[in-house]
Order: sequence, then C-alpha cells, then structure tokens
Amino acid sequence: MNKPETKSKDVYILGIESSCDETAAAVLKNGQVVLANIISSQVPIHRKFGGVVPEIASRKHIENIMPVIDEAIKQAKITKKDLDAVAVTYGPGLVGALLVGLSAAKALAFALDKPLIGVNHLEGHVFANFLVDPTLKPPFLALVVSGGHTALLIVKDYATFELLGQTRDDAAGEAFDKIARVMGLQYPGGPEIEALAEHGNPAAMDFPRAMLSNGYDFSFSGLKSAVINYLHNEKQAGREINKADVAASFQEAAIDVLVKKSVHALVQTGLKKIVLAGGVSANLVLQKELAAAAQKVGAELVHPEPLLCTDNAVMIACRGYYQFLEQDFAKWDLNAVPNLKLG
Ligand code: KG4
Ligand code: ZN
Repeated sequence: MNKPETKSKDVYILGIESSCDETAAAVLKNGQVVLANIISSQVPIHRKFGGVVPEIASRKHIENIMPVIDEAIKQAKITKKDLDAVAVTYGPGLVGALLVGLSAAKALAFALDKPLIGVNHLEGHVFANFLVDPTLKPPFLALVVSGGHTALLIVKDYATFELLGQTRDDAAGEAFDKIARVMGLQYPGGPEIEALAEHGNPAAMDFPRAMLSNGYDFSFSGLKSAVINYLHNEKQAGREINKADVAASFQEAAIDVLVKKSVHALVQTGLKKIVLAGGVSANLVLQKELAAAAQKVGAELVHPEPLLCTDNAVMIACRGYYQFLEQDFAKWDLNAVPNLKLG
C-alpha cells in the first residue's frame, strides 16, 4: 500500500460513512475545507417501522453507496486520482450496513493504489468539532451522545482517548427515541421531543436523575421506564396527558444528568474546553445548558453545526485526515467491528 508523500501539498481525503441509516460520502481538503458533503438519508424509509430495520438499511446502502461517492467527487471538483486516502467507518454500527461502506472503500482505495484508513465512528463524531473550531487542540473533554452511545472522554491528543465513563444501559438518544415512540411521535424521536418540549413545562414532572453522585457512568433506562410508566398510568386512569410537559420534563432530566457529569469532569480534570458529539448534540437545550454550566467553571463548549451533529462523512474524513498524518493505515483485511469501543 502506498505511503503518503511527505512533500507539502494539499491533502484530499474521501470519507465514507454507512454505519446506520445514512449513506454518506465527503471530500475534505487539508482536514479543514469541506469540498463535498453528500448524505443520502434513509430516515423516511425506516420511519414507517418506528426505527432502523438493519436488513433494509444494508440493501439501501448497496443501492446508494456508489452514486453518493460519485456525487461527492463531482461536487468537490476533483478526480478520484487526486485523493490521498480513503477513510471509512468500520465500527461501531450495524454489521451489514458497515460492510457496504467498507467494501466500497476497500475497492476504491485498492483500485486507486491509495491508503485505506479505518475510522471509529464515535471518534469521527468528536472530530467534527475541529471543523467548527480551528483553534481546538487536545487535550479537551468530549461528551458523546448518540443513538447508540453515551460517554465522557478525554481527548488527550489526536490519537489517544481516555474513557471516563459511559452508559450502563440505554444511550441518551435511545431514551429519546423509545419515549417518542410510546408517545406516538415519529422516528427519530430526539428532534420530535425537542420540538414538543418547547411548549412544555420542564418542571411539571419530577422524573429521576440516575447515578448523579456516582462517578462518570450514566444510566438512562430508569428514566425511560419512569416516563413510559407515567404515560401508561395516566392513560389507564383516563387522565388527559400533557405531552409537551412530559417531553420537557423528560428532556430536562436527561440533560440535567449530562450537564452535571460533564461539569464535574471539567472541574476534576481542569480542562477548559468540552466538545459535544453525536446526534443528541443537535439538541439546542443541551447546547445552551451545557454552555452556561461550562462557562460557570471557566470552560468553553464547542459543538458541531446541526448537519455535522448527526451522521455524516465529513467527520469521518476529518478523523481520517489526522490518522493520515500519523500514517495510521488499515490493511486490506480490515473488517467491520459492530461493537468497536472508544479509546
Ligand atoms: O449520531 P447519530 O446520528 O447516530 C448514531 O450514531 O446513533 O444519533 C442519532 C440519535 C437519535 O437517537 C436521535 O433521536 C438523536 O440522535 N437526536 C436528537 C436530536 N437530533 C437527533 N436527540 C435529541 N435532540 C435532538 N435535537
Ligand atoms: Zn453517529
């Protein structure tokens, strides 16, 4: 496999992402300039089923992957030969979905005789922040809140991540999605709950805040069950449910825990920057409350722009760029790792 040239020239990375229900490709120049960001979302397809159907996701990725890659190259106004490397998500995610992007990336890199870079999807989410804040430099704290993960970690340098804590059961996004489903809202539930919560009272119900004084691990299944039980009990008693109040109170409980644990980590580590990563970081209330709480302890919050909060390939290209600089290349037998860990 080719090693990167050391002469100072522009570096073009193609990023490919297919871990869940978005088929995405992006071209990034020098780790900073987005030349193309193509996302083909399957959300409308999976919405009918109330969540992602893995088999359908894989089939749709197969249909979409090459057109999405071609569109990214076209929009970037480069040729495939101009690429310096192909970076692809190899985990965590749905195995059948991951394999589609991975196979396409391998075929492309092999045919072009360019390095292949295997990217951890969660590290990709964290690295999306380098695109919004060019002054961002490790070490900093990261709160990863997605549909499948909730974790606090220290980004020590561009390749070293120290996990402080993570969820012991449901991820934050999963709690949003499951509660939304019981409330009859459409998939994905996060944006639906956030919109509904705008009209509700966050202090209407006192839902539990789990493990607040218990280190950096999270637990959202108790909160999820408490909200779902409340909805069932009210329905059985024939009482009218104020859905906006439920949404606002649930959201407040979830955010309260995320913010308090993050601030505790800022104080304990003395770090002055915290970044948000993953789909739930699109939540404006979380952004606002975390920014305010961080400021109180002399720290600053960085979060990606909305399009880079949820799954995309720019973040994969960005993580790939830093791996490219370290010559952290994958072998041709790189496989999908559905439960790939952080750090
Ligand atoms: O990072 P992501 O796009 O996919 C995964 O890697 O999981 O995250 C998707 C998750 C879903 O659970 C979705 O409901 C949640 O992010 N999400 C939100 C918001 N937008 C997306 N949660 C709360 N508020 C939002 N505005
Ligand atoms: Zn994601």
